Amino acid sequence: MPRGAVGPTYGVADPDTVAAQYATPDRLRRRMSIWRPGPDGRTPRDVARDLVVGLAPRSVLEVGCGTGELAEEIAAALPACAYLATDASESMVAATAARGLHAEVATIGSLPYPDASFDVVVAAWMLYHVPDLDAALAEVRRVLRPGGSFVAVTNGDRHLARLLEDAGGDILVTQFSSENGEEALRRYFARVAATHIATTAYFTDHTDAVAYLETVDESLAHGLAWFDGPRVEAGYTTVFHAR
Ligand SMILES: C[S@@+](CC[C@H](N)C(=O)[O-])C[C@H]1O[C@@H](n2cnc3c(N)ncnc32)[C@H](O)[C@@H]1O
Repeated sequence: MPRGAVGPTYGVADPDTVAAQYATPDRLRRRMSIWRPGPDGRTPRDVARDLVVGLAPRSVLEVGCGTGELAEEIAAALPACAYLATDASESMVAATAARGLHAEVATIGSLPYPDASFDVVVAAWMLYHVPDLDAALAEVRRVLRPGGSFVAVTNGDRHLARLLEDAGGDILVTQFSSENGEEALRRYFARVAATHIATTAYFTDHTDAVAYLETVDESLAHGLAWFDGPRVEAGYTTVFHAR
Protein backbone atom coordinates (compact mmCIF):
# COMPACT_ATOMS: atom_id res chain seq x y z
CA MET A 1 0.00 0.00 0.00
CA PRO A 2 1.40 3.47 -0.82
CA ARG A 3 2.72 5.44 2.16
CA GLY A 4 -0.07 7.41 3.79
CA ALA A 5 -2.86 5.34 2.24
CA VAL A 6 -5.63 4.24 4.53
CA GLY A 7 -7.61 1.06 4.81
CA PRO A 8 -7.29 -2.23 3.01
CA THR A 9 -9.22 -1.32 -0.13
CA TYR A 10 -9.32 2.38 -0.99
CA GLY A 11 -6.74 3.37 -3.58
CA VAL A 12 -5.01 0.01 -3.30
CA ALA A 13 -3.40 -1.80 -6.24
CA ASP A 14 -3.30 -5.38 -4.90
CA PRO A 15 -5.21 -7.50 -7.49
CA ASP A 16 -6.97 -9.80 -4.98
CA THR A 17 -8.11 -6.88 -2.83
CA VAL A 18 -9.30 -4.94 -5.86
CA ALA A 19 -11.15 -7.98 -7.24
CA ALA A 20 -12.93 -8.47 -3.89
CA GLN A 21 -13.81 -4.76 -3.67
CA TYR A 22 -15.50 -4.82 -7.09
CA ALA A 23 -16.90 -8.37 -7.09
CA THR A 24 -20.34 -6.74 -6.96
CA PRO A 25 -21.38 -3.15 -7.82
CA ASP A 26 -22.79 -2.48 -4.32
CA ARG A 27 -19.80 -0.76 -2.69
CA LEU A 28 -19.08 1.39 -5.74
CA ARG A 29 -22.74 2.46 -5.99
CA ARG A 30 -22.75 3.36 -2.31
CA ARG A 31 -19.62 5.52 -2.71
CA MET A 32 -20.90 7.26 -5.83
CA SER A 33 -24.21 8.15 -4.14
CA ILE A 34 -22.73 10.79 -1.83
CA TRP A 35 -21.18 13.03 -4.50
CA ARG A 36 -22.59 16.40 -5.52
CA PRO A 37 -21.13 19.03 -7.86
CA GLY A 38 -18.62 21.45 -6.40
CA PRO A 39 -18.83 25.28 -6.32
CA ASP A 40 -18.78 25.64 -10.13
CA GLY A 41 -21.76 23.29 -10.53
CA ARG A 42 -19.92 20.64 -12.54
CA THR A 43 -18.99 17.11 -11.58
CA PRO A 44 -15.77 15.43 -12.76
CA ARG A 45 -17.97 13.10 -14.82
CA ASP A 46 -19.47 16.15 -16.60
CA VAL A 47 -15.96 17.42 -17.37
CA ALA A 48 -14.72 14.04 -18.63
CA ARG A 49 -17.86 13.49 -20.72
CA ASP A 50 -17.65 16.93 -22.34
CA LEU A 51 -13.96 16.48 -23.05
CA VAL A 52 -14.52 13.13 -24.82
CA VAL A 53 -17.60 14.37 -26.71
CA GLY A 54 -15.67 17.46 -27.86
CA LEU A 55 -13.02 15.21 -29.41
CA ALA A 56 -15.72 13.72 -31.68
CA PRO A 57 -14.15 10.22 -31.71
CA ARG A 58 -15.36 7.42 -34.00
CA SER A 59 -14.21 4.81 -31.48
CA VAL A 60 -13.72 4.86 -27.71
CA LEU A 61 -12.35 2.22 -25.35
CA GLU A 62 -13.20 2.69 -21.69
CA VAL A 63 -11.17 0.67 -19.20
CA GLY A 64 -12.46 0.08 -15.65
CA CYS A 65 -15.95 1.25 -16.62
CA GLY A 66 -17.54 0.19 -13.32
CA THR A 67 -21.33 0.40 -13.49
CA GLY A 68 -21.26 2.33 -16.77
CA GLU A 69 -22.58 5.83 -15.89
CA LEU A 70 -19.89 7.68 -17.82
CA ALA A 71 -20.12 5.22 -20.71
CA GLU A 72 -23.86 5.75 -20.96
CA GLU A 73 -23.55 9.54 -20.99
CA ILE A 74 -20.82 9.60 -23.65
CA ALA A 75 -22.47 6.95 -25.83
CA ALA A 76 -25.77 8.88 -25.70
CA ALA A 77 -24.01 12.07 -26.81
CA LEU A 78 -22.09 10.28 -29.61
CA PRO A 79 -24.59 7.91 -31.27
CA ALA A 80 -22.32 7.24 -34.28
CA CYS A 81 -19.31 6.37 -32.12
CA ALA A 82 -18.34 2.73 -31.44
CA TYR A 83 -18.11 2.81 -27.63
CA LEU A 84 -16.59 -0.26 -25.99
CA ALA A 85 -16.81 -0.35 -22.19
CA THR A 86 -14.53 -2.82 -20.37
CA ASP A 87 -13.79 -3.81 -16.80
CA ALA A 88 -11.85 -6.53 -15.01
CA SER A 89 -14.98 -7.41 -12.98
CA GLU A 90 -17.66 -9.55 -14.59
CA SER A 91 -20.38 -8.02 -12.43
CA MET A 92 -19.36 -4.49 -13.49
CA VAL A 93 -19.47 -5.57 -17.13
CA ALA A 94 -22.95 -7.03 -16.56
CA ALA A 95 -24.13 -3.78 -14.90
CA THR A 96 -22.82 -1.76 -17.85
CA ALA A 97 -24.27 -4.14 -20.45
CA ALA A 98 -27.65 -3.82 -18.70
CA ARG A 99 -27.66 -0.17 -19.87
CA GLY A 100 -27.71 -1.45 -23.44
CA LEU A 101 -24.00 -0.73 -23.98
CA HIS A 102 -21.35 -2.94 -25.55
CA ALA A 103 -19.33 -4.18 -22.58
CA GLU A 104 -16.58 -6.80 -22.24
CA VAL A 105 -14.29 -8.18 -19.56
CA ALA A 106 -10.74 -6.87 -20.09
CA THR A 107 -7.79 -5.98 -17.87
CA ILE A 108 -5.90 -2.79 -18.63
CA GLY A 109 -2.48 -4.44 -18.30
CA SER A 110 -3.20 -6.82 -21.18
CA LEU A 111 -5.84 -5.43 -23.50
CA PRO A 112 -7.14 -7.94 -26.10
CA TYR A 113 -7.27 -5.32 -28.89
CA PRO A 114 -4.96 -4.56 -31.83
CA ASP A 115 -2.47 -1.71 -31.92
CA ALA A 116 -3.83 1.72 -32.91
CA SER A 117 -7.47 0.61 -32.77
CA PHE A 118 -9.18 3.45 -30.80
CA ASP A 119 -9.46 7.23 -31.20
CA VAL A 120 -9.92 7.77 -27.46
CA VAL A 121 -9.23 5.69 -24.34
CA VAL A 122 -10.97 6.60 -21.05
CA ALA A 123 -9.87 5.46 -17.57
CA ALA A 124 -11.92 7.01 -14.75
CA TRP A 125 -10.93 6.44 -11.13
CA MET A 126 -9.12 3.19 -11.86
CA LEU A 127 -5.40 3.82 -12.45
CA TYR A 128 -4.79 3.89 -8.69
CA HIS A 129 -5.86 0.24 -8.63
CA VAL A 130 -3.66 -1.27 -11.33
CA PRO A 131 -0.82 -3.53 -10.17
CA ASP A 132 1.68 -2.19 -12.75
CA LEU A 133 0.95 1.43 -13.69
CA ASP A 134 3.60 1.59 -16.42
CA ALA A 135 2.38 -1.63 -18.06
CA ALA A 136 -1.15 -0.18 -18.01
CA LEU A 137 -0.11 3.14 -19.57
CA ALA A 138 1.95 1.33 -22.22
CA GLU A 139 -1.13 -0.71 -23.15
CA VAL A 140 -3.24 2.44 -23.42
CA ARG A 141 -0.60 4.01 -25.67
CA ARG A 142 -0.45 0.84 -27.81
CA VAL A 143 -4.19 0.61 -28.53
CA LEU A 144 -4.56 4.36 -29.20
CA ARG A 145 -4.21 5.41 -32.79
CA PRO A 146 -1.45 7.99 -33.46
CA GLY A 147 -2.82 11.37 -32.45
CA GLY A 148 -5.46 9.76 -30.24
CA SER A 149 -6.39 11.01 -26.77
CA PHE A 150 -6.27 9.43 -23.34
CA VAL A 151 -8.70 10.81 -20.75
CA ALA A 152 -7.93 9.77 -17.16
CA VAL A 153 -9.80 10.81 -14.01
CA THR A 154 -8.44 10.49 -10.49
CA ASN A 155 -8.57 12.01 -7.01
CA GLY A 156 -6.07 14.18 -5.15
CA ASP A 157 -4.26 13.53 -1.88
CA ARG A 158 -6.68 15.77 0.07
CA HIS A 159 -9.80 14.05 -1.30
CA LEU A 160 -12.14 13.49 1.69
CA ALA A 161 -9.10 14.10 3.90
CA ARG A 162 -10.97 15.57 6.89
CA LEU A 163 -13.42 12.64 7.04
CA LEU A 164 -10.63 10.06 6.77
CA GLU A 165 -8.56 11.81 9.44
CA ASP A 166 -11.58 12.18 11.76
CA ALA A 167 -12.13 8.43 11.41
CA GLY A 168 -8.57 7.73 12.54
CA GLY A 169 -7.10 7.27 9.07
CA ASP A 170 -4.60 9.29 7.09
CA ILE A 171 -4.80 11.26 3.88
CA LEU A 172 -4.95 9.10 0.77
CA VAL A 173 -1.78 8.99 -1.33
CA THR A 174 -1.99 6.73 -4.38
CA GLN A 175 0.23 5.79 -7.34
CA PHE A 176 -1.91 7.88 -9.74
CA SER A 177 -3.31 11.05 -8.22
CA SER A 178 -4.03 14.70 -9.05
CA GLU A 179 -0.54 15.42 -7.76
CA ASN A 180 1.53 12.69 -9.47
CA GLY A 181 -0.65 11.73 -12.46
CA GLU A 182 0.87 14.19 -14.92
CA GLU A 183 4.39 12.91 -14.24
CA ALA A 184 3.27 9.32 -14.95
CA LEU A 185 1.41 10.30 -18.12
CA ARG A 186 4.41 12.25 -19.48
CA ARG A 187 6.37 9.00 -19.66
CA TYR A 188 3.99 7.93 -22.49
CA PHE A 189 2.43 11.12 -23.87
CA ALA A 190 4.00 14.33 -25.20
CA ARG A 191 1.20 16.64 -24.10
CA VAL A 192 -0.75 16.48 -20.86
CA ALA A 193 -3.41 18.94 -19.66
CA ALA A 194 -5.10 18.82 -16.26
CA THR A 195 -8.46 20.19 -15.13
CA HIS A 196 -8.85 20.26 -11.36
CA ILE A 197 -12.39 20.05 -9.97
CA ALA A 198 -13.57 20.70 -6.43
CA THR A 199 -16.46 18.42 -5.46
CA THR A 200 -18.78 18.03 -2.50
CA ALA A 201 -19.62 14.91 -0.54
CA TYR A 202 -22.95 15.08 1.27
CA PHE A 203 -23.75 12.69 4.13
CA THR A 204 -27.30 12.87 5.47
CA ASP A 205 -26.15 11.88 8.98
CA HIS A 206 -23.56 9.88 10.95
CA THR A 207 -25.10 6.56 9.86
CA ASP A 208 -24.73 7.61 6.23
CA ALA A 209 -21.05 8.50 6.70
CA VAL A 210 -20.39 5.23 8.54
CA ALA A 211 -22.05 3.29 5.69
CA TYR A 212 -19.75 5.07 3.25
CA LEU A 213 -16.64 4.29 5.30
CA GLU A 214 -17.70 0.62 5.62
CA THR A 215 -17.22 0.28 1.85
CA VAL A 216 -13.64 1.46 2.33
CA ASP A 217 -12.48 -0.05 5.63
CA GLU A 218 -14.41 -1.40 8.64
CA SER A 219 -11.92 0.08 11.11
CA LEU A 220 -12.44 3.56 9.68
CA ALA A 221 -16.20 3.12 9.92
CA HIS A 222 -15.91 2.22 13.61
CA GLY A 223 -13.47 5.09 14.23
CA LEU A 224 -15.71 7.95 13.10
CA ALA A 225 -16.66 10.15 16.06
CA TRP A 226 -20.36 10.92 16.48
CA PHE A 227 -21.74 14.05 14.85
CA ASP A 228 -25.26 15.46 14.68
CA GLY A 229 -27.17 16.16 11.48
CA PRO A 230 -25.80 16.22 7.94
CA ARG A 231 -22.14 16.57 7.12
CA VAL A 232 -20.50 18.08 4.04
CA GLU A 233 -16.94 17.23 3.00
CA ALA A 234 -14.65 18.39 0.21
CA GLY A 235 -13.40 16.21 -2.62
CA TYR A 236 -10.62 17.00 -5.07
CA THR A 237 -10.56 15.37 -8.50
CA THR A 238 -8.57 15.88 -11.70
CA VAL A 239 -9.41 15.10 -15.32
CA PHE A 240 -6.24 14.57 -17.37
CA HIS A 241 -6.10 14.81 -21.14
CA ALA A 242 -2.97 13.16 -22.57
CA ARG A 243 -1.97 13.08 -26.25
C1 LIG B 1 -13.39 3.06 -8.51
S1 LIG B 1 -14.08 2.04 -9.74
C2 LIG B 1 -14.43 3.23 -11.01
C3 LIG B 1 -15.50 2.77 -11.96
C4 LIG B 1 -15.92 3.78 -13.03
N1 LIG B 1 -14.83 4.11 -13.92
C5 LIG B 1 -16.50 5.03 -12.45
O1 LIG B 1 -16.07 6.11 -12.80
O2 LIG B 1 -17.42 4.94 -11.64
C6 LIG B 1 -12.71 1.13 -10.40
C7 LIG B 1 -13.09 0.12 -11.47
O3 LIG B 1 -11.88 -0.34 -12.10
C8 LIG B 1 -11.96 -1.74 -12.27
N2 LIG B 1 -10.59 -2.24 -12.31
C9 LIG B 1 -9.72 -2.32 -11.29
N3 LIG B 1 -8.53 -2.78 -11.70
C10 LIG B 1 -8.66 -3.00 -13.03
C11 LIG B 1 -7.77 -3.46 -14.06
N4 LIG B 1 -6.50 -3.81 -13.76
N5 LIG B 1 -8.22 -3.54 -15.32
C12 LIG B 1 -9.51 -3.20 -15.62
N6 LIG B 1 -10.40 -2.76 -14.69
C13 LIG B 1 -9.97 -2.65 -13.42
C14 LIG B 1 -12.77 -2.22 -11.08
O4 LIG B 1 -13.35 -3.51 -11.31
C15 LIG B 1 -13.79 -1.11 -10.93
O5 LIG B 1 -14.96 -1.36 -11.66
